[in-house]
Amino acid sequence: MAGETIEAVDAREILDGRLEPTLRVEVVTSGGSVGRADVPHGRSRGANEAVEVRDGGERYRGQGVSRAVRNVTEVIAPELSGLSVTRQRTVDERLVTLDGTDDRSNLGANALTGVSLATLQAGAASVGLPLYRYVGGVDASLLPIPFFDMIEGGELAESGLDFQEHQVVPIGTNSFESALRKSAEVYYELGDLLKDEWGASSLNVGDEGGYTPPMDDAHDALDAELRAIERLGYDDEFGLALDAAATHLYDLESETYQYGGEDLTWDELFDVYGELAETFPIVSIEDPLYEEDLSGFARLADRLDVQIVGDDLFATDPARVARAVDLGAANALLLKVNQVGTVSEAMDAMAAAVDAGYGVQVSERSGQTPDSWLAELTVGLGAGQIKTGVTRSERVEQYNRLLEIEAELGGAASYPAWSAVRGGR
Ligand code: PGA
Ligand code: ZN
Repeated sequence: MAGETIEAVDAREILDGRLEPTLRVEVVTSGGSVGRADVPHGRSRGANEAVEVRDGGERYRGQGVSRAVRNVTEVIAPELSGLSVTRQRTVDERLVTLDGTDDRSNLGANALTGVSLATLQAGAASVGLPLYRYVGGVDASLLPIPFFDMIEGGELAESGLDFQEHQVVPIGTNSFESALRKSAEVYYELGDLLKDEWGASSLNVGDEGGYTPPMDDAHDALDAELRAIERLGYDDEFGLALDAAATHLYDLESETYQYGGEDLTWDELFDVYGELAETFPIVSIEDPLYEEDLSGFARLADRLDVQIVGDDLFATDPARVARAVDLGAANALLLKVNQVGTVSEAMDAMAAAVDAGYGVQVSERSGQTPDSWLAELTVGLGAGQIKTGVTRSERVEQYNRLLEIEAELGGAASYPAWSAVRGGR
């Protein structure tokens, strides 16, 4: 029996968890299957990311996406009509060709991402499978270790902390359900501790639903997280992690990092990481350096026995992953579909990382909606790690979907040992 073909592609402007415009794209097939996807939107973006199309002007302070919507409905939709909905790569290649630019700035990475993901959803619906099984086949059974950004700083909060995320990571439990439950308990305990020691305003949350205590030293954030974990007796079951988002600390002219009110050289910043990794049970550091410092990423991956994740470094671009892998830069890929624009290219970036023995962490953006394709994709890809913030419904819905998937899989579900999925193993 011939598969279903794409009949219609529609899009509309919706708002994300920050009340900022984004796209919701819908693909309908000849058999009446429907796939829908909301497009995420980052704030702490790297220079090598695919470019979104936004309207400019006064409406939504220039952030409107009506042009990107028209790119979907007027330019993309007629070109996809009649293509097999399960030929994801064909659809994605068509999108890339139609856009015609290297940075996707013509039709917009936001338009492409929405169509690519909605096609994936419609393909899954057309064969009657949940997305994780459509992507991962019968083998899709690995739940991810979640990275909880419990204390926020950098561009995502007004806490005063230089690093963007101070994460709590449940690396020692044996199911996703227990990982989530224990992490939630750490979050409550941490809230009590922060309120007592740093004041009630600490409980205000940032873009990813983590706390925003008035701290300016990563030691204080990691120390509070560690003590919350210890108070619960979970010392053996948790590690800590950072997203330094160091591109945003880097000053191109002076070639220094602005950290702790000082201008640090590479060596001085390296000492900061080395000392933090000695003091705390740190298992992973994302974007510890400026996005173009490949040799620095290689030296760090070599010298520190922690996972070194590349976010701005890779921008989920297969070519950047290949180049970095050759140099041994970092040892794990942060996978964000909208950094590159299509599901197939994100999968290519992942394949290049996995081939080199790198870890893969599938990631949210700081702007997203409760659409839970992220949870599905993470299990489908078997990445073994996910980052999607802490509280706020657009984050929690990912966790709720992962709970459902774990229950659906029953005895087939597995929760990874950290040593099996980490980069730098
Ligand atoms: P973004 O931040 O989604 O705003 O880019 C998250 C990150 O840097 O990992
Ligand atoms: Zn990051």
